[in-house]
Amino acid sequence: MPDVAGLAPRPIVWVAAAVAAGLSAFVVTNTMRDGQTRTAAAVTLTGGDPARAPALFRRYGCSGCHTIPGIPGADGQTGAPLTGLSKRVYIAGVLENRSDNLVAWIVSPQSFSPQTAMPNSGISEQEAKNLAAYLYAH
Ligand code: HEC
Repeated sequence: MPDVAGLAPRPIVWVAAAVAAGLSAFVVTNTMRDGQTRTAAAVTLTGGDPARAPALFRRYGCSGCHTIPGIPGADGQTGAPLTGLSKRVYIAGVLENRSDNLVAWIVSPQSFSPQTAMPNSGISEQEAKNLAAYLYAH
């Protein structure tokens, strides 16, 4: 007699698969929600538009010197990676990490650190706010 019992679906496997699928959906949804909250907070804090940032990172050469999360080709090693910037205590070790200071640093790093390798790029204050919004959201 053939062993049909061995071919029957085993409920425990299906239950485990359903739990795993539900769990990963939960994690993905929550991660997305966290990202949206972070972006909304970054926009409020900076008055910038993070959607405009990727083009600006390239135009002003930031991506040549910094590794920037979510920006393809931004793998520079001259400056520190701009990852998790919202968690830093200081900007470049000299300014308290606040959005107005971050914008000021991006516009005019040499006025805070005269010896720094980071150049004043001629970026406008509004453009720097767009970059600050992006950096705080990532
Ligand atoms: C020529 C290379 C170069 C370019 C171009 C450059 N940076 Fe930097 N950046 C640096 C270096 C080096 C530091 C470290 C500064 C220091 O500690 O004096 C730095 C520091 C920073 C910091 C502080 C990071 C931290 O860890 O506290 C931010 C933010 C930053 N840069 C953003 C930008 C943005 C935005 C642009 C484009 C507008 C840019 N940088 C362009 C070299 C560069």
